[in-house]
Amino acid sequence: MNAKDHYDNHLAAFYAWMTGNFETKQQEQEAYFTRKHITPSGNRVAVDLGAGHGLQTISLANLGFTVFAVDFNQHLLSELNARAKGMPVRTILANLTNSAQYAMDAELITCMGDTLTHLESVQQVSTLLEQWQRMLPASGKLVLSFRDLTQELHGEERFIPVKAEDERIHTCFLEYFPGFVRVFDVLMEKINGQWIQKVSSYQKLRLGIEQVKMMLTAAGFNVLDHEVIARMHYLVAEKNRG
Ligand SMILES: C[S@@+](CC[C@H](N)C(=O)[O-])C[C@H]1O[C@@H](n2cnc3c(N)ncnc32)[C@H](O)[C@@H]1O
Repeated sequence: MNAKDHYDNHLAAFYAWMTGNFETKQQEQEAYFTRKHITPSGNRVAVDLGAGHGLQTISLANLGFTVFAVDFNQHLLSELNARAKGMPVRTILANLTNSAQYAMDAELITCMGDTLTHLESVQQVSTLLEQWQRMLPASGKLVLSFRDLTQELHGEERFIPVKAEDERIHTCFLEYFPGFVRVFDVLMEKINGQWIQKVSSYQKLRLGIEQVKMMLTAAGFNVLDHEVIARMHYLVAEKNRG
């Protein structure tokens, strides 16, 4: 199953539940942007790629950006729209690999929450970094956050308890291959007193942090900042002035 089918047929329906309290998570993202001085300084336009239900989009709108939220999953964009009522937010249902569908003058591009690893190949990541660089003005910023899955987990370490409540349990199982990991999202749900198991999987790229930094440099960015928060690598890059 590809990533779009996985979200459309499985993960999107329980993504918000899995993520936990929206306000808490959203405020964490907003605090991060504030700490890194990600505030409007040009045309105030931000493009949030793989926006999901809006943790970064809502944060950026709160900070004064007009945000174009791009995602290929309609369910998550509908949740985002419901939260963004009255805010300067527009959603675009599109595959982020098709940059023509969201090409615009923007001072900021974000691709966060491990969206980058959902892409199909390292080559596709590097092509997109080049395209995003061309969308930005000199000194425009790109903010990425993703998990570095290059270190293999073994045996029972590959079973990751994500969330458990009385009627719902979500576990991830990881299967490692050269260059990618197959991620199985196992959902157990109690329906009419019966436990029902639903399983679906998709691939994530095993992108290394140094590899992504090198790809950013090759695409014409300066890496300004690198911080690890809850095992997620956060990078702020700026388009070269020259
Ligand atoms: C792990 S979620 C992150 C969502 C959000 N940024 C967050 O931090 O909660 C990845 C998101 O990217 C979207 N996505 C993954 N690959 C995509 C693609 N090629 N084009 C558009 N959206 C994509 C998924 O639908 C999902 O909403």
